[in-house]
Amino acid sequence: MTKESAVSIMPIWYGGDYNPEQWPEAVWAEDVQLMQRAGVNLATVGVFSWARLEPREGEFDFGWLDRVMDGLHAGGVRVDLATATASPPPWLTHRYPEVLPVTEDGVRLSPGSRQHYCPSSPIYRRLAARLVEALAERYGSHPALELWHINNEYGCHVSRCYCDVSAEAFRSWLKRRYGTVETLNEAWGTTFWSQQYSDFAEVYPPRAAPTFKNPTQKLDFRRFSSDELLECYRMEKSILRKATPEVPVTTNFMGFFKNVDYWTWSSEVDVVSDDSYPDPADPDSPAYAAMVRDLVRSLGGGRPWILMEQAPSAVNWRRRNAAKPAGMNRAYSYQCVSRGADGVMYFQWRQSVAGAEKFHSGMVPHSGTDTKTWREIEQLGAELGQLEAIVGARVPADVAIMFDWDSWWSIEQDATPGDIRYVEHAFAWYRELYRRTVTADFVRPGDDLSRYRAVIVPSLFMAGKEAITGLDEYARQGGRLLVTFQSAILDPHGHITFGGYLGGLAETLGVRIEEFAPPAGPDLERNGQADVPTLRIEGSLLPSSSASLWGEYVHAGSAEVIASFVGGELDGWPAITRNSRDAGRAWYAATLPGPEGMKALLDDVLTDAEVQGVLAEPVPNVEAVRRGSWTFLLNHSVQEVSVQAEGTTHVLQPRGVAVIALAGQQGAV
Ligand code: GLA
Repeated sequence: MTKESAVSIMPIWYGGDYNPEQWPEAVWAEDVQLMQRAGVNLATVGVFSWARLEPREGEFDFGWLDRVMDGLHAGGVRVDLATATASPPPWLTHRYPEVLPVTEDGVRLSPGSRQHYCPSSPIYRRLAARLVEALAERYGSHPALELWHINNEYGCHVSRCYCDVSAEAFRSWLKRRYGTVETLNEAWGTTFWSQQYSDFAEVYPPRAAPTFKNPTQKLDFRRFSSDELLECYRMEKSILRKATPEVPVTTNFMGFFKNVDYWTWSSEVDVVSDDSYPDPADPDSPAYAAMVRDLVRSLGGGRPWILMEQAPSAVNWRRRNAAKPAGMNRAYSYQCVSRGADGVMYFQWRQSVAGAEKFHSGMVPHSGTDTKTWREIEQLGAELGQLEAIVGARVPADVAIMFDWDSWWSIEQDATPGDIRYVEHAFAWYRELYRRTVTADFVRPGDDLSRYRAVIVPSLFMAGKEAITGLDEYARQGGRLLVTFQSAILDPHGHITFGGYLGGLAETLGVRIEEFAPPAGPDLERNGQADVPTLRIEGSLLPSSSASLWGEYVHAGSAEVIASFVGGELDGWPAITRNSRDAGRAWYAATLPGPEGMKALLDDVLTDAEVQGVLAEPVPNVEAVRRGSWTFLLNHSVQEVSVQAEGTTHVLQPRGVAVIALAGQQGAV
């Protein structure tokens, strides 16, 4: 791996988190032998080793890690060396209890688990920096070192701290953002409920309060908290860069993780890496996992990425933990490779004997190597070893979905018109693309969209001028743009956009919104969805379809109404519209169409955009993706299926995979 990311003659990385400190040294030699058997070429070492590396403040013990690194090197296993800062040791929080984070309700969390530090704590940062410096000095030129793994899953458990130190850091962040308290008052709309500040000193994090808190204060605290974690990362990265400018760095992301805005992080990592644990018991998991892979690839601007963690079989943190049935792990691993991954890794190498994760599966299970899990680990290692030619290849995508953390944070606040779950909403559109074997990238507001034939914008609740202008330009220049309800409702301060809500997009779409009217029952809290009226739509687009989640009173201006609501209070009002905008076209969906409506609408948009799926005739539960000069077919069902792809019929076994080399030779596996 180079800092510019893998280019050629690199292997596909295969391995996992390796925690040798949990085992007597006698086991380590066997570990290396087994890694060789399994084709492991990369091990993530030391993620939770701070207490072992620095058993007392300022006293380092590297002897054991020297032997681990040397042993791996001798066995031909490269090392993704962690900076070990994710779990402070007991001496640290005993001596400096103020490092412990405080929740919104004012509870100071205790040690005894992990990630128990306030991201703004200068003490935590100082002690973490010293550990990173010591590691960089000791291992910076170790021949096994391939990659630095900074911290672990930033924000996974503690992403916002409400302590006094954080409050002060928040004030500094606000001063940098707004300059004066008057500007802050304006942005936060503090004339409402008597909240005007006369000094930054009066501002606090949004701690527990009697009722709805100031929405912009909450939004800014989320932005600040994501930035504070990023500062922790940057601090470690700058130490590593100085010591080892040629060694790439990463930190493991968590897909659609709400608390950290990965768009602001992604340019800071040399290679994007991601942890992913699809639920084996959920039939939607293959499609949802595909969406996560596409986000992760997009975060790196299309560069190859690494699946840093997946479970070899069951996890231990769901209420009931399904084991991965035979073939499922292999299918998910190929899914990652097909969607741009150059590495497939696990948590963790050897299943633990003690501690909170002893029931989480490992590559080497409690039951040893005479097991389904181990045999599949070995088989996959051997197969990936044959796929090296794909390393560095790109995944083409004609369609993009716009995704924005500010919109996510604001649309899911309390006191909004409805209960839209942002990622679920994006997934509703993604799933239809996935079903059609159309590959999608994710883009952030303001990105250059010109290379996409179609762009879908689900509930871009908060939109600035740049985003709106970018979308309009895209349509004018010939793009096919589909925007859904609850887009451009707020400006970046969280203030309402007047004149039909859609801001400048109203002209792009040729519609004006008068009032929101999501279908609601008498008491959603008490009755769940039981009494929510069902919606229907029909029109020139399609004879009839169900619809859900949203409705509103929309006036079509220049736009053509292609489906209207039927029945109920919204009877006859536009539900889906299409507008010509210079060289392009822009659709507006004022509701979430059911399966028939979704299909008809995407038929309309994608036909107009001349977008085709990888398969001319998609097969249920079969995923198809092109990467470089290969086509991947993944059968997520438990039936044998026949698939027509690239001019031939392919028979896929239950949960089977085929890799078709477009250059000519048949690469089925
Ligand atoms: C996360 C963490 C790992 C481990 C796994 C278990 O991904 O990074 O340390 O806890 O979850 O699923």
